[in-house]
Amino acid sequence: MVKAAAVNRYKHSFSSLRLISIAILSGSLGMILPQATPLFAADVESIDWSQISVSKPRLYYPGQSSYQWLRTSEHKKAAEETKAGEACLRCHKGEQKSLGEILVVENRLEPDPIEDKSGYLRLSVQAAHDDQYLYLRFGWKTSGEGPGNVGNLMRFDGSEWAWWGNHRQHEAVLDEEQPAIYPDRLGIMIGDAKSPLYPEHGCWMTCHDSMVGMAEQADEEEVGEHPVISQLYEKIGIPILNYAVRKYLPDSRSDGTEWAAVKNEDELITLRKEGAFLDLIIWDASLTNPAGVAADFNVLEMKQVDDGTSALWPNGEMRGGPKYMFDEGTVGFSALTEADLADPSKPKHLIVGHNTAPFDAAKIQEGDLLPAHILDTGAAEGSAADVDYAKGVFENGQYTVIMRRKLDTGHPEDDKVLKVGGIYTFGRFMTMRAASAPTMFRSRSR
Ligand code: HEC
Repeated sequence: MVKAAAVNRYKHSFSSLRLISIAILSGSLGMILPQATPLFAADVESIDWSQISVSKPRLYYPGQSSYQWLRTSEHKKAAEETKAGEACLRCHKGEQKSLGEILVVENRLEPDPIEDKSGYLRLSVQAAHDDQYLYLRFGWKTSGEGPGNVGNLMRFDGSEWAWWGNHRQHEAVLDEEQPAIYPDRLGIMIGDAKSPLYPEHGCWMTCHDSMVGMAEQADEEEVGEHPVISQLYEKIGIPILNYAVRKYLPDSRSDGTEWAAVKNEDELITLRKEGAFLDLIIWDASLTNPAGVAADFNVLEMKQVDDGTSALWPNGEMRGGPKYMFDEGTVGFSALTEADLADPSKPKHLIVGHNTAPFDAAKIQEGDLLPAHILDTGAAEGSAADVDYAKGVFENGQYTVIMRRKLDTGHPEDDKVLKVGGIYTFGRFMTMRAASAPTMFRSRSR
């Protein structure tokens, strides 16, 4: 149940990843050993990163360039080579900026562009490890005026609670019923040659036409009726309304890359045991950063949160009402107002044990807002809680995020076990939004 709740939450924010993500052509990341003794979480901040080399991958907006599209004749003179496993970078090295510029405006792979969105981003990445942990440091310039750390909210309309805030192409945002709210986010996929072609093709392998916002989005009912996929959704407790095709690896399908052709359970178990899945870590300026953690997923037949309990939970049940509110004694108010969103001094996140109180309807007025999620690190455990340190700081338009994870988390069936000297491919995708309300309405990019 616990795990279910966390996944459900993510489903919402990912419902149109295609529209807001910037992907990178994959590349391998070397590792350097600055010291041998494992650091306590508190000491992670003392790492001298100036001693550690920096790589600067080029990320670009991918439009609807799905794994299917890349293998059709529309991918000019490249479909056969791509099918044969030729690496994207063999042909596209140095082209990332121009690809992003082409793909971010209206074109055959972007039927619905967002004005002034930027299509290219230079990320800086550093990696280090000691005996136990991998430490990663990322830096990027946002195109927003602020930290982009407001997440989705729930709003009381006088009689009931409803979701408030969504991505820029959501119907309710286009109809101006809800504001555009989308936090800054960094996703990292870790894989190796155990997932065939992943080192050559990276994140693109998990991006398919059947996903939300793509050219041939699968019918929710069909997804709901699918014997394997619906079972997975049921197992993790996601309501049928939210069934959609999520990231998956082609190897988990028996018929090409067709979303519905999922291999049988025994075959999937074998693939997982062999390590033929991807590890996926997502840091989010609103959903995870306030508690100093990141969320831990894996991708094989479907993107799923790792086993155990994540720190991230929905705040009660949407229409049933929130479970937590702000603790007035600690922060001076019980709920936020729309105007508060533009006030950086007002906390925007509910962190259990720090600033929360049980929900009390008597303290709520029409129009009040509460975060749609809570963070509870005290309850987090198991594989879902493996990224136990992930902190991002926003300064002068620049984000710096530092995180750590054990090289061997002890959970080989949903985390990549990293060995010193091994070669791993890190794929990165990011979403960016700009400042808090009211400027969010004219932010240049998400
Ligand atoms: C054999 C060389 C080759 C390989 C390998 C290759 N591409 Fe391409 N790609 C091309 C060529 C040539 C074009 C057409 C360029 C044009 O239309 O201007 C293209 C076009 C594209 C476009 C569309 C750009 C546009 O103008 O609309 C995208 C996106 C793209 N490739 C991504 C990838 C990715 C991702 C991979 C790896 C999975 C990949 N390519 C592998 C050669 C290659």
